[in-house]
Amino acid sequence: MENQEKKILIVDDNRENAEVIGQLLQENGFATVFVPSGSSTVETALNESPDLILLEIDRPGKQSFEVARQLKLEREMRFIPIILLTVRLELDSKVQGLEAGVDDYITKPYSGVELLARIRSLLRVKSLNDHLDDAERVVFSLARIIEAKDPFTLGHADRVSRYAVVLGKLLDRKEADLETLEKGGALHDIGKMAVPDSILLKPGPLTSEEFEVMKGHPVVGYNICERLRSAKDALPLIRHHHEKLNGDGYPDHLKKDDIPPLVRIVNIVDIYDALTSARSYKDAWSIDKAFGVMYEEAKRGWWDGDLIRIWEKAVRSGELATFLSQIKNLKISMAKKSRL
Ligand SMILES: [Fe+2]
Repeated sequence: MENQEKKILIVDDNRENAEVIGQLLQENGFATVFVPSGSSTVETALNESPDLILLEIDRPGKQSFEVARQLKLEREMRFIPIILLTVRLELDSKVQGLEAGVDDYITKPYSGVELLARIRSLLRVKSLNDHLDDAERVVFSLARIIEAKDPFTLGHADRVSRYAVVLGKLLDRKEADLETLEKGGALHDIGKMAVPDSILLKPGPLTSEEFEVMKGHPVVGYNICERLRSAKDALPLIRHHHEKLNGDGYPDHLKKDDIPPLVRIVNIVDIYDALTSARSYKDAWSIDKAFGVMYEEAKRGWWDGDLIRIWEKAVRSGELATFLSQIKNLKISMAKKSRL
């Protein structure tokens, strides 16, 4: 009964082999889906959302591990365990398989008992990962709730997240950095949950005491996300998104090169979105006015002028709109994470 919800995708070129394995798994309460290895494997896997993938390869070679690599490249599939069922492998092939994303091997001829034990073991690990993902979802939903308190900031974190990914792409940052920018952008203001509504929603300028309270939000956000393993790389972005290059920012008064490059990216798109959006205390500014102020502030030593120029070019040339249409499927878009 415990396995009834678990779905195993069997990837195999040999229909007969797949049917034997499928029968064994079904008798033990698993649901199975068969797919021949090839161009449609990844697409089927994405459609079926399996809990585990069993990849049977009779003659393993670099090419045959490509399926595993392609699967693990898909964000939705990254935490789906892959077991390779194959002949005895040389060390080189084993390493190639592990590097491609295979999680476990079973050598043929295999015993059904061992296969089931390995599958259950990896499913337990996946279940733990799923719970971690749940924790992540809660935090992202909290970020959305904070925004929802103030109609003027609704969508801000989502836009900062997407804009940061676009600016990261324009700067040729690697995929892992783009993910960090996406998370950091989405979570950067989560610490505002500790700021009272009377300050957060105040229609006019803040008093110096109120501003001191507001200035606590990067550290509060950092503390909230510190124990969230999946947000680890985004922590500097959450803590330092109000730092300025001349050291006038907060909370740590970092200067120049002490401010990590990814933080600088979030700085620029955060300011740009804040200026071009309406707030409780101001109207939405035109693009011209926003960039005018940003360049002035760059001259004052706050921001990186080169980054502003790259961002302005993307905004004015339509490159931003093109990129945004290409990154609809961000892993942790706020809309997706809000579905609890
Ligand atoms: Fe902030």
